[in-house]
Amino acid sequence: MMVQKQVWHRRTRYLIVTQNAATVQLELYKEPQDPDGVTAFICCLWVNEEERKHGHAGRLLDRAEEIAAREGHKRVHLEWCSLDSPQWVLEWYLRRGYEEQEFGHNSSLLVKELNQIK
Ligand SMILES: CC(C)(COP(=O)(O)OP(=O)(O)OC[C@H]1O[C@@H](n2cnc3c(N)ncnc32)[C@H](O)[C@@H]1OP(=O)(O)O)[C@@H](O)C(=O)NCCC(=O)NCCS
Repeated sequence: MMVQKQVWHRRTRYLIVTQNAATVQLELYKEPQDPDGVTAFICCLWVNEEERKHGHAGRLLDRAEEIAAREGHKRVHLEWCSLDSPQWVLEWYLRRGYEEQEFGHNSSLLVKELNQIK
C-alpha cells in the first residue's frame, strides 16, 4: 500500500493506493467545512473491477480511518450516492460503524466516530 501526503493551504490530502488495484482519498481540514462539522472526509474509493471482493476496499478504509484518528480527528465523514454505488455498499458502511447523518434524495452523508481506533 502506498500513502502520499499532500499538504495544501487549508487541507491535507492523503492518496492511499494499493498498486494496480485500488485507491481512496482522505481530506483533512483545519476548520470545520460546514454546519455538519466535517473535518475529515473520505472520498473516491475505487477498486478495479477484476480486483473486487478481495478485501482491498476494507483495508483502504482501515488505513484512511487510522490516519484521520492519528491526526487528531474525532470523526470521519463520507458520502454514499445511489447513482454511483449499489445499496449493499451503504449497508457495508453501516456494518463498519458509519451512521447516516443526513439523507438526501439520492445520497447519504455518513459519519463514523473514531474514538475506538488507536
Ligand atoms: C465498493 C467497492 C469499493 C468495494 O471494493 P471491494 O474491494 O470489492 O470490497 P471488499 O472486498 O473490501 O468488501 C467489502 C465488503 O463488501 C462486501 N461485498 C463486496 N462485494 C460485494 C457485492 N458485489 N455484493 C454484496 N456485498 C459485497 C464484502 O463481503 C465485504 O463485506 P464484509 O466486510 O462485511 O465482509 C468496489 O465495489 C468499487 O470500487 N465499486 C465502484 C465504486 C464505488 O461504489 N465506490 C464507493 C463509493 S461510496
